[in-house]
Amino acid sequence: MTEPQARLLVHPLVVRVTHWINAFAMVCMVMSGWAIYNASPFFPFRFPVWATVGGWLGGSIAWHFAAMWLLCANGLLYLAYGIGRGHFRRKLLPVYPREVVRDAALALRFELPHDTGKYNAVQRALYLFVLALGVLLVASGLSIWKPVQFSWLTALFGGFDFARRVHFVAMAGVVGFVVVHLALVLLVPRTLLPMLTGRARRAHGTAHQRTQA
Ligand code: HEM
Repeated sequence: MTEPQARLLVHPLVVRVTHWINAFAMVCMVMSGWAIYNASPFFPFRFPVWATVGGWLGGSIAWHFAAMWLLCANGLLYLAYGIGRGHFRRKLLPVYPREVVRDAALALRFELPHDTGKYNAVQRALYLFVLALGVLLVASGLSIWKPVQFSWLTALFGGFDFARRVHFVAMAGVVGFVVVHLALVLLVPRTLLPMLTGRARRAHGTAHQRTQA
């Protein structure tokens, strides 16, 4: 006999809307940021033009700032919801290094159980990591955008040139996160629809299904 199934709300509307706006804004920021970097690279490489937006330096800067306001407003809403409504406490905390190592080892053997609507320790660590990177990106971005008005912040980052490198490294961290994040979604594609609709079926009594995460 098939087990009874319930459609559970696994991702609240605020989380879904802010997630997809954030994904769009992040792509715009990274692609326009690469074009801005190309105008004055500090590493011995440039990003391919097809991977950039804006067309020319002024256009790319306009894209970067437009997406920045969207990302900041959306990020503040997500943070306010996450902290104020206990979303972070319920879904992203706690993170114990021992559990992260255990879940990472299970994931590499394709043995990590995925419980619909619950994040494993690797996911929780990655999500908190990318949130911290987001804060670092905004802070280092502010320090190179307004180095006079935010001179204390620029000084905190070790000066304008070093702040640019911090901004770049934080961008690389976000791109690395997105690659791993998308690989995990491809491995467990049934997590995608609930991130759009909010709801997922879960068979009663089956807390875990043996599959990849
Ligand atoms: C097209 C690109 C993306 C896709 C297809 C995607 C897909 C998903 C899916 C399916 C989940 C839920 C995972 C689960 O239930 O196990 C999720 C959660 C999450 N994603 Fe993405 N994602 C994308 C881009 C991004 C980007 C660019 C970021 C940040 C830089 C991001 C950050 C997050 C975070 C923080 C969560 C947890 C949300 C929460 O519950 O608070 N995602 N994503």
